[in-house]
Amino acid sequence: MEKFAKLIIDGQEIALPVIEGSEGEMAIDIRELRQQSGYITFDPGYGNTGSCRSSITYMDGEKGILRYRGIPIEQLAESSTFVETAFLLITGKLPTREELTRTSVSLNDFSPIHENMKAFYQNYPPKAHPMGILSAMINAMRSFYPELIDREEELNKTYLRIISKIRTMAAMAYKISIGQKVIYPRPDLCYCSNFLNMMFDSVVVRYHIDDELVRALNVFWILHADHEQNCSTTAVRVVGSGKVNIYSTISAGISALWGPLHGGANQAVIHMLERIERDGMSVEKCIARAKDKDDDFRLMGFGHRVYKTYDPRAKIMKDMCDIVLKKVKVKDPLLDIARRLEEAALTDPYFREKHLYPNVDFYSGIVLRAMGIPTKMFTVMFAIGRLPGWIAQWKEYWNDPEMKISRPRQVYTGNTLNEYVPIDQRKEEVSIC
Ligand code: ACO
Repeated sequence: MEKFAKLIIDGQEIALPVIEGSEGEMAIDIRELRQQSGYITFDPGYGNTGSCRSSITYMDGEKGILRYRGIPIEQLAESSTFVETAFLLITGKLPTREELTRTSVSLNDFSPIHENMKAFYQNYPPKAHPMGILSAMINAMRSFYPELIDREEELNKTYLRIISKIRTMAAMAYKISIGQKVIYPRPDLCYCSNFLNMMFDSVVVRYHIDDELVRALNVFWILHADHEQNCSTTAVRVVGSGKVNIYSTISAGISALWGPLHGGANQAVIHMLERIERDGMSVEKCIARAKDKDDDFRLMGFGHRVYKTYDPRAKIMKDMCDIVLKKVKVKDPLLDIARRLEEAALTDPYFREKHLYPNVDFYSGIVLRAMGIPTKMFTVMFAIGRLPGWIAQWKEYWNDPEMKISRPRQVYTGNTLNEYVPIDQRKEEVSIC
């Protein structure tokens, strides 16, 4: 039976349809509210707004559940590969062996990038942030590679092309930034091995590809592959809603991810831990500063808009820390600080009351550091991982008959009707010069 929610405004009763999701999530459909009442809803940051119906990712922030296409993240991290998970997210089903082989072959075929694109890299200042470069390069792909959207088969090629080339572009940006010769992708290597090889092989020292580090990278990327309507994914849906090309849409997602409150948090966590170590700041002091409203210090890697319990990805990442550090035989003092900070925060009333728990970024930086990934590449690593999710969300949006161009409303709080004053009659009150 169809359900309705009743809203009484100015004595008028309005019946709003209720929508139920497959996991019992309830939503009030307010699309007709303005026409019926003249009112809009107010929800800065969209914390309580459902922007779409989606069948890609399910998360329950109270219970700490994350599933891609119904499959728990723990099972995927245990048994899947990044390429298989990308296939699952984009197509909605796990691949057969043959489909997976074909996908891997295509990813290898698409991996080199147009030689002319190398010129872009060479002209960037050496200190340029790789996220800015990556976002620009993905946008530039529109000019180098035709966007194929006419048939599903052609469109799939575009997805694979971006997934494949983003990895080559990221490794190339790193090599050029450190003044080393670019290492080209090898057709005999799988997605993750190829990336590590392009990053760390050199004409001087041959890189040994270690199976455990390849596994760790697979897990890292699986954990980041999608996270429903977060900031960058929403950017992808909003930008894509104008029917702009997929390359520019993904480029917008990369830019949104860059910020320290979102994907940039993994880099911010390491900077925070390094600062704590360098300044000899005690754990108690950090916790006190994070709680102080007059101090802009926040415990990076803690808190989440949706998770009000331990982020399930953070648990997997924490275990991964031990495996990777053991493998590379490194004792990282930052891990020790991170563990002590976590312990103190989890027992502190402020963090408990506000439901602030470690998120995926709290331990991911330590894993990446141990793998030899430089700090400024951390958010790029996140972007490569999130790409299948962005593509899946873009595809879902593109095919959704309910979707319209994104265009929220606002509550205007500025001047009411005002007169234009000629310049020689204006009084100087505030100067911005
Ligand atoms: N340290 C200290 N206090 C915090 C933290 C933190 N990390 N996070 C939230 N709080 C406090 C806020 O000050 C606020 O307190 P108040 O109620 O007294 O004003 C309360 O907790 C709620 O915080 P909001 O910022 O309103 O929560 P929101 O859901 O908007 O933000 C966010 C979530 C941005 C992730 C926030 O927790 C944060 O800034 N965390 C640190 C950055 C980080 O780790 N980002 C990665 C997120 S995961 C991802 O994108 C992959």
